Amino acid sequence: MTETMDQIYSLWANRLRNNQGIRSLMEDLGKATGHPNEILLGGGNPAHIPEAESIFHETFGNLTKDSTLRSLLGDYQAPIGNDSFRTLAADYLSPFFHADLKKENIAFFNGSQNAYSFLLNLHSGAMSNGSFKKILLPIVPEYIGYADQSITDDVFYATPPNVVKTGKNSFRYELDKSNFNLTDVGVIALSRPTNPTGNVLSLSDLEWMEEKTKQQNIPMLIDLAYGNPFPNLIGEGEPVLFKEGRTLSLSFSKIGLPGVRFGIVVSDPETIETLSSFAAVSNLAVGNLGVYMMEMLFQQNTLPKLSKNILRPYYESKLKLALELFTTEFQKMGVDYEIHDPMGGFFLWIRFPSLTISNQELYHLCKDKWLFIVSGHYFFPGLNTDFSHTKECIRLTYCRKEEELARGAQILAEIVASHQAKSK
Ligand SMILES: Cc1ncc(COP(=O)(O)O)c(C=O)c1O
Repeated sequence: MTETMDQIYSLWANRLRNNQGIRSLMEDLGKATGHPNEILLGGGNPAHIPEAESIFHETFGNLTKDSTLRSLLGDYQAPIGNDSFRTLAADYLSPFFHADLKKENIAFFNGSQNAYSFLLNLHSGAMSNGSFKKILLPIVPEYIGYADQSITDDVFYATPPNVVKTGKNSFRYELDKSNFNLTDVGVIALSRPTNPTGNVLSLSDLEWMEEKTKQQNIPMLIDLAYGNPFPNLIGEGEPVLFKEGRTLSLSFSKIGLPGVRFGIVVSDPETIETLSSFAAVSNLAVGNLGVYMMEMLFQQNTLPKLSKNILRPYYESKLKLALELFTTEFQKMGVDYEIHDPMGGFFLWIRFPSLTISNQELYHLCKDKWLFIVSGHYFFPGLNTDFSHTKECIRLTYCRKEEELARGAQILAEIVASHQAKSK
């Protein structure tokens, strides 16, 4: 860091400048050039599914016809949404979460990423009582976008997960209960399904953790961006319900509307009140487009049908295809590989145990061939223990066309095959 940077930027600014995880990922996504050889398996964009798009286009079209357009474009919402919309969301979501939600339980944000930048800071760092609290990520790897959202340094805390072999070329991460430590923990955060691995944490593990957190009044943030009730990409997993001590976040992005930037938080009234202060200061107000689209989609009960009839079948068939394409190429090229059981979401998390270069170097070699993937090393915030997976894994999305996935599989297999220890 140069002296000038030191003078003009805060510690937080310099930390953000130095750590490029989510930024490099989103920039790769935004820089897509349309080059004919480009294979975009890096970002978290949902697939463009024509049947889903036509539903969204119709919803959007209705908004532009109506007199609502005047208000949509010309009026601010309240910081976390107007009461009428929050009541509508509370009534609509109550049966999905087996809870009697009120507007006081609901807050809207400009994407769930925006909600997390508040939620993580709300429960961690220097506390009003003089203590210092950490954010426990109970199973890493965990979502790259949480890292660096905290204003304070060194707030993430994680220990290596249990690695369970589930087949010759497959494994699963599980909660290491023997190492579960809540000392100085202010909040637990997890995504279900987990980005990047596609893990779907069992409800019994969730409840096991809550037995401990309840005693110390530690809230649990459960990120349902890929989960229930929409897009509900949870495979065989049971839905998460709303209970005391849980803060749930939902997103419109993975149903196919990432450009709308709309997320919903369901929590206790105190937390929602606090979020409203954060939102007023940082955003003034949630944007109108998501709120108005939500009103129509909820009133017409569109999203459960969309999830069941369009999104789930689409992503399930893409998963099958991607597994076939990648495993065929890996086996053809003699690649030593293991894939995390893809239980939900739309990513594959692949480990190359015999890789002689780091996953970051692998990312660059792939990029040189126009193949974009994400290096796995970003997904371990707060882990200070040696864990070989941090250097051996990559994440890729399977939301792309068959031809793109096939070429991606071929390039990746070739590169890994020429950079792995020969003994295997
Ligand atoms: C697990 C998870 N949570 C939250 C987000 C943020 O999504 P958005 O801000 O678009 O709602 C993402 C986006 O990729 C994600 O993967």
